[in-house]
Amino acid sequence: MKQGILTDILDHANRANPYPLYEELRKTPVYHDGEGPYVVSTYHEIHGLLHDPRLSSEERNRTAGGADPLAGEEEAEGATLPPSFLKLDPPEHDRLRRLTNRPFGPPHSPHRIESMRGNLDETVKNLIDDIANGTSRNGSSGNGSSGNGTSGNGAGTGRIDIVDQFSYPFPVTMICRLLGVPREDEARFHVWADTLASSLDPDPSADPAERAKVTQDARMELGMYLAGLIEERRKDPRDDMLSQLAAGQGDDSMSTMELLSTAALLLIAGHETTVNLITNGMLTLLRNPDELQRLRAEPGLAVPMVEELLRFEPPVQMLPQRTPLVDIEVHGVTIPKGAPMWLMLASGNRDPQRFENPDHFDPDRRDVQHLGLGSGIHSCFGAPLARLEAQKALSELARRLENPRLLEDPPPYRQNAVLRGPRHLMIACDGIR
Ligand code: HEM
Repeated sequence: MKQGILTDILDHANRANPYPLYEELRKTPVYHDGEGPYVVSTYHEIHGLLHDPRLSSEERNRTAGGADPLAGEEEAEGATLPPSFLKLDPPEHDRLRRLTNRPFGPPHSPHRIESMRGNLDETVKNLIDDIANGTSRNGSSGNGSSGNGTSGNGAGTGRIDIVDQFSYPFPVTMICRLLGVPREDEARFHVWADTLASSLDPDPSADPAERAKVTQDARMELGMYLAGLIEERRKDPRDDMLSQLAAGQGDDSMSTMELLSTAALLLIAGHETTVNLITNGMLTLLRNPDELQRLRAEPGLAVPMVEELLRFEPPVQMLPQRTPLVDIEVHGVTIPKGAPMWLMLASGNRDPQRFENPDHFDPDRRDVQHLGLGSGIHSCFGAPLARLEAQKALSELARRLENPRLLEDPPPYRQNAVLRGPRHLMIACDGIR
């Protein structure tokens, strides 16, 4: 095994194509270099661990002896807001997830998401119209957007940045609408969300105390911002999730602090992930023009395409925050209680023991039980929304952009290793329908 492979995986220089590193890693399904984390990279092992009740997502269960030198960070979460249910084990996890699910109607009927379809269609249409008209309504994204539309002649023939002009503003608009967070506040909360998304990455080079403080400050500011909104919604409820969660009554409801942590989790998760699924999707389709052509002719193909994308280019590449509650054995390796573990979802998705010809993007794949949205009790809460958004986005971009082509391949990538995706995706096209 190559030395320093984990450092290489975290190195931004390898962000555009980490898959050869994962292939190397899979030669040792449970990799441990003596002092770092236990890194699990094969499909069956990861899937099993995601369903194993002996694994904890709670930071406090990591022992000092199991400290992760690559992580280099003290957990800052507890100091400001309590951990969100993403970082809690049962029974607390289950209680909070169930309460969060309430506004969506009975379990497994994502009623509210379905009812968002109209909004979703309209938002996609408006964003593509704006690109065609050379205007932009993504507001101040804090995402580095110039706020310009195409830099061409208004017919959509100029340069288009798919990230700033479409795949970032679209899910942000949708999560704001779902929660009841004003879209025009995006410039404020984007900075906090960005900091918190980056804090998911292990960072060996950062000063742990400094990093903990930055994370803590961002959580606190986001918490205070959301507290103001929740206060308003308590006085003057609207038809949104914040109002409904804030209205929970009696013993079976969230405390204010739990509500703030949950709202922060939803805002960040709905903000920093789907952008990458849509951008990775466009990039993959532009690299596979036959598939783009098929989607243009048959929009229904967006459903299997998005599933294959979640396997092939998953926006959440790894889960670096699990730890065993007791000593466990995985693939012949004993992982001691409290040791840090990384579960490499993107590597499991390319495991040839599980998927035939895994490095091939094949939307016709019959069996695509990927790990892109996790699995087990923490599997993605926002999965119905994420899927719907990506399906709609890709089928409409395919339908409306005439002869789109990449101007830069590979595109520049965001710094993040966990939430991986292009920072910009510059394309040209001959027109917009
Ligand atoms: C959990 C991926 C979009 C809310 C997760 C997990 C993954 C994931 C891999 C498992 C985390 C773990 O096991 O520790 C994604 C991807 C998305 C996406 C790839 C977009 C393409 C969303 C959206 C929302 C959301 C739009 C909010 C509406 C959540 C929440 C959890 C979660 C609340 C925690 C679930 C729990 O701990 O029970 N997501 N997600 N996600 N996701 Fe997503």
